[in-house]
Amino acid sequence: MKSIEIKTLNRKYKIYIKNNITESFCDYIKENFGKNGNIIVVSNERIYGIYGKIIKDIISREYKIKEIILNDGEKYKNIDTLKYIYSKLVDFNAHRNDVILSFGGGVVGDTAGFAAATFGRGMNLIHCPTTIISQIDSSIGGKTAVNFEKIKNIIGCFYQPHLIITDPEFLKTLDEKEIINGLGEIVKYGLVFDFQIINDVLNLIGDFKNDENRLFNIVNNTEFGKIIYKCVKIKAEIVEKDEFDLNERNLLNFGHTIGHSLEKTIGFDKINHGQAVAIGILCAIDISVSLGYLNEKFKKKILDIYDILKLPKFITKTDVDEILNALKFDKKFISGKNKFILLEDLNKPVIYNNLDEDIIKNSIVNNIK
Ligand code: GLY
Repeated sequence: MKSIEIKTLNRKYKIYIKNNITESFCDYIKENFGKNGNIIVVSNERIYGIYGKIIKDIISREYKIKEIILNDGEKYKNIDTLKYIYSKLVDFNAHRNDVILSFGGGVVGDTAGFAAATFGRGMNLIHCPTTIISQIDSSIGGKTAVNFEKIKNIIGCFYQPHLIITDPEFLKTLDEKEIINGLGEIVKYGLVFDFQIINDVLNLIGDFKNDENRLFNIVNNTEFGKIIYKCVKIKAEIVEKDEFDLNERNLLNFGHTIGHSLEKTIGFDKINHGQAVAIGILCAIDISVSLGYLNEKFKKKILDIYDILKLPKFITKTDVDEILNALKFDKKFISGKNKFILLEDLNKPVIYNNLDEDIIKNSIVNNIK
């Protein structure tokens, strides 16, 4: 079992990472919250359909459990879903010493997190992330939000969880699309912070690089927990340094500036976050090449890795101006000035302000097929 402690302004909390940790759920809940309060599980129909019975059996050994089950998908990360959670909390007569347990991926975590932050001015919150993205990124660091008017994460707040319980065992039931979604974020960690993370993933695929089902080798290997741990450790250190995303935490947005605008223009239901980030990373690499930081050989190497990891290499929607226009809604655009995370070299990220619009446009055009 690995555990990482994060110290933030208002809270110090632990992330436990272990296979089959959920068996001991009640011990961790007791350690943090005692025996008071009900456990209110917020999950979605897909993941709760698979694990709901087990989770319910385990928790109800020691706690009263209530359930709020949401529709599955990014398009449900909205104010209507939030209202649904609030009305269920009112039905349950929920109190601040009850515990919201978000059980699912980033959509569940971000939405349940925002509900926990705001209902009764703040409830207890545990994240139990069940996708790669939520285990290595979204559950950590207190960003909670819903989308509004097709703008990603525009309504939200910082609210650190009280505890995170991460079990890589849940990743074994992900479909390929969701694995690819997570690999986009893993590649981000590898390029920005530690390339060994990408090598570790490629090692799990080993000799099966041409096997159609190769990506399942990654999540089915217990060694994948170590890769999850490496990413979590990086994220935890960054959150400790810059909880409110004013400086170093921006680095986690490598590939996200254009990525978010692709999600907005193409639609949350047509491209998932990891795919959009994967293409955003290619644009950021092209911009880094234009500025003379990286070279074409570097990009070719990354494209070869994309092939193995089945990451998308092209934008299929061609309206460049719409994509450019959507960039202005990015939270990193301040007073009309853009901010891009680029690479001066491998694992040497740099925050670049006010990049020439033609360079941005070319990077998008370059990646359209
Ligand atoms: N997902 C980026 C961050 O937490 O800052």
